[in-house]
Amino acid sequence: MSKQTRYVTTPIYYVNDRPHIGHVYTTTLCDVYARAMRDIGHDVFFLTGTDEHGVKVEQSALDKGLEPQALADLNSEEFRSIMGMFDLTNDAFIRTTDPEHTKQVQAFVSTLLERGDVYLGTFEGWYDKGQEEYHTETGARDLDYKSPISGKPLVRATENNYYFKLSAYQERLEQLFDSNPEFVQPPSRRNEVLGRLREGLQDVPISRTNFTWGIPMPGDEEHVIYVWIDALFNYITALGMGDESSKWNKERNKYWPASYHVIGKEILWFHSVIWPAVLIALEFPLPKCIYAHSFWISEGRKMSKSLGNFIDLETIESYVEQYGMDAWRYYLTTQGPLGATDADFAAEKFKDIYNAHLVNTVGNSTSRVTAMIGKYYDGAVPFESIDEVRIEIGDVDWPVRCEEAVSQWEEAMESFSIAKAIECGMGIIRDVDLFINDTAPFKLAKEETKQAELGAILYQCLEALRIATVLLSPVLPSKMKAFHEAIGADSCSANLLELAKWGHIQSGSTVQKVALFPRV
Ligand code: MSP
Repeated sequence: MSKQTRYVTTPIYYVNDRPHIGHVYTTTLCDVYARAMRDIGHDVFFLTGTDEHGVKVEQSALDKGLEPQALADLNSEEFRSIMGMFDLTNDAFIRTTDPEHTKQVQAFVSTLLERGDVYLGTFEGWYDKGQEEYHTETGARDLDYKSPISGKPLVRATENNYYFKLSAYQERLEQLFDSNPEFVQPPSRRNEVLGRLREGLQDVPISRTNFTWGIPMPGDEEHVIYVWIDALFNYITALGMGDESSKWNKERNKYWPASYHVIGKEILWFHSVIWPAVLIALEFPLPKCIYAHSFWISEGRKMSKSLGNFIDLETIESYVEQYGMDAWRYYLTTQGPLGATDADFAAEKFKDIYNAHLVNTVGNSTSRVTAMIGKYYDGAVPFESIDEVRIEIGDVDWPVRCEEAVSQWEEAMESFSIAKAIECGMGIIRDVDLFINDTAPFKLAKEETKQAELGAILYQCLEALRIATVLLSPVLPSKMKAFHEAIGADSCSANLLELAKWGHIQSGSTVQKVALFPRV
């Protein structure tokens, strides 16, 4: 049977900005998903990259006395380097200045021109210069004619432009939202988009003439293709879908449609309305889900450089140095704004979560159980109980408890509920702690007649911990690997669902005491 494919993407990041927690966050969420999907045996393609055209990049380059391409090269490299720094396992890194990308974008736009979905016309509207975005009359009025991002006044602008016939897709988009309620997640974001969609769609300009740093419009070199259209296409150019003879097409075409386009809430409209309309026009299948997360704020306030609460790369590195990479990933993915509300990044909270979840739960439980096996069994895994003993020693049916957690984990991961999936592993660990408190193996160790029970309890604790830590490995890859090595467990040769079955740990095999998360 051929493997199922999973395709997950991050937004492609603007090269006129430096990487910060927002970029690292989205990419880490996708990384956890990609690892989990690979581990359960799917054929995964995880894409990220950089968005390099547009007036802002042209302007910053000019200010720095650089060619736009040189600035793009420098900053794209910095984004690429964060992938290595944070153990992010992207399969490709696309740049919108890649010739393979630009060529395909022109091919797609040519098709849209031929089909009449793109036409030349005159446009007048309210323009946000910083965002390179037009607002409708109603939209601009709601914004008090000011940019929602910079606060600067919107300007009335007229342009001769190529337009995309978005208005022709109103009905099909409404149908899409109705028949596929999970197309936009979380549900509150879907409702926002649907509300705006129902106000009616206008055609959108997709070319610019006031600067040159962009992909030339096919057949009309005076225009460059609008940076947003150029950028959205990355999701399919990276798969070679606009060039059938390309290497990318041969190797990657199979990944479309995407499972998840993961984005921040500020770019939802482009992804959930304009992008599907373009795909419908090109007769491509639609992505399964656009997942829009909310924002990180910092110490209770909007992140800003002037307030000094901006979580830039240097700040992130200081956390990683102090707490470790896995702890950083854990905080981001369990405390982050994946839902409809913003999340606070706060130093105190980071420390509390680290101590409560990683030191006192994962760290403590794994060290307690391995220490007891060391002390009472000289480090050799004891025998698991026969069934009667299993019943006698408490009312947890561990194999069933673990099996349920594994299936909930899989369902949560598949639906991109990352924190919920992580909780499936953490829940087992907390239950192991309760089980130890209830059954008190340290007391049984002193009673000669209780040795079978003692062995059974410790076997079950270790095996449950092994399964819990298998489930946690996409988020805590290096610590969980260290734990599996210490207990002599296979952590990679089979698929995760196989490894997460009860009974892999062999009685008699050697276990070393571990201390996974040092207290900070
Ligand atoms: N280039 C466009 C995206 C084009 S995709 C076809 C863009 N780039 S960006 O560099 O501004 O990155 C935006 C993304 O960074 C957001 O969608 C989000 O993923 C992330 N974040 C930026 N700031 C953020 C926070 N404060 N919190 C969480 N993530 C946010 O937009």
